[in-house]
Amino acid sequence: MIEFGSAAALEESDVEALLVPVRAERVWDGSGEWVAERLGEELTAFLDASDFTGKLGQVAAFPGTGLIPFSSVVLVGLGKAPDVEAVRCAAGAAGRALHRVRSVATTLHAAVDGGAEAVALGFILGQYSFERHRSEPKPAQTLSVRLIGAGDADLAAAGRGRVLAEAVTLARDLINEAPIDKPPEALAQVARGIGERTGVRVRVYEEEEIEAEGFGGLIGVNAGAANPPRMVEMWYEPKDARAFLAFVGKGIVFDSGGLSIKGAAAMETMKTDMSGAAAVFAAVQAIATLGLPVKVLGIAPLTENMPGGSALRPGDVLRARNGKTIEVLNTDAEGRLVLADGLSLAAEAEPDLIVDVATLTGACVIALGEEIAGVFGTGGGMERVQQAAEAAGERVWPLPLPDDYRKKIDSDVADMRNTGVNRYGGAINAALFLREFVGEVPWAHLDIAGPARASETSHYVVKGGTGFGVRTLVALAELAAGT
Ligand code: BES
Ligand code: MN
Ligand code: ZN
Repeated sequence: MIEFGSAAALEESDVEALLVPVRAERVWDGSGEWVAERLGEELTAFLDASDFTGKLGQVAAFPGTGLIPFSSVVLVGLGKAPDVEAVRCAAGAAGRALHRVRSVATTLHAAVDGGAEAVALGFILGQYSFERHRSEPKPAQTLSVRLIGAGDADLAAAGRGRVLAEAVTLARDLINEAPIDKPPEALAQVARGIGERTGVRVRVYEEEEIEAEGFGGLIGVNAGAANPPRMVEMWYEPKDARAFLAFVGKGIVFDSGGLSIKGAAAMETMKTDMSGAAAVFAAVQAIATLGLPVKVLGIAPLTENMPGGSALRPGDVLRARNGKTIEVLNTDAEGRLVLADGLSLAAEAEPDLIVDVATLTGACVIALGEEIAGVFGTGGGMERVQQAAEAAGERVWPLPLPDDYRKKIDSDVADMRNTGVNRYGGAINAALFLREFVGEVPWAHLDIAGPARASETSHYVVKGGTGFGVRTLVALAELAAGT
């Protein structure tokens, strides 16, 4: 775990590497000036040869030589007019370049207001890698980052960045884990562990209870699976709570499609289908660790979606927790079936706002691409999530809930069907379906099918599970707390 500390002056920092932020056209701060003075022409020649201009995320590393009391100097580009996101990105790229270095000093935090939190978050997340299944794990080696000239407020901000980064790391680890190693009970155990570490109260519904409590969607999706389902409830109830939020995360630990089976290529990444649940677990952990004065209920319906002999069939009818009936026409539209129960349960608690997070539709990825989540909502929920995502630095875009589209999920035999009549507007049909289960509670739905996974590494986002949604949920709690 990296420690973030402060250092009074450059020369006194007593570390291995110096990390120097550089704006576009090689505009540098005092630390860059200091390096340039000592290296003179050599630095310019080196930077010319390596084409380093200070573009966002660009990195150039060279040995300290006798002229500089560091074993290495790393320059990182901030781009033209850096903002907090640019500092996160630069810190992420630098973190990767410095992964073998034990101690680092930098002025990167001073580039913008709020920079210390961004440095901690970006640096830790940029160094992320999932090593659990390698016979020779090679995790990043950095133990300490000194923020030159940082005061107490900067260090507190860095501490907050670290709590967030650790939560996102938890989510990434859960998403990247092999499906065989994360059956529903194993994920429920992760939630219990968070409860033990943070004081959050955790309730896990096991099979008989799931049956008795009428979670018909979850039972239906689980029918073809060998591993039993779980429904997780996490309660964070601080005494000074100023608001009450409920988060619901889709927890399909593997989505084969069920009898409406997916093709081989589409199935390759379907261990990612519990990213919503991972985001909820991680956000609850971070909110409790930060001690935010907001009551939070985290809910995660957990199951595999498998085509076993007892699997749910197209044509089957399920009854969800709120009593509404669903004709299942495509067993691959399973996320909405388990969320039906999760959302009903959340609505019963009468929170001020329900937010669900789900890798729900391929259609949302077609609409917005792999890096932007779709957001829908009622009662002002969508706007609140947009505001939180903006503050957190996660990319979301609003999509509509047109009332006249509701008829596309009308069923001949039940209250609704689980797919639209054709494939158009699939993300909207799914969101209209979810709306049936939130009652009168203001609600937002985040479809993270795209950004839950990164197909390549860029800045602080590392290829694989991203932990998208964690930071937006925490920011939402902060906004609700008015902190
Ligand atoms: N988990 C998938 C959605 C998904 C697709 C997530 C691609 C990440 C990347 C979801 O359960 C699903 O299969 N949805 C279907 C719905 C359809 C059958 C109405 C889809 O999007 O094709
Ligand atoms: Mn599916
Ligand atoms: Zn799914």
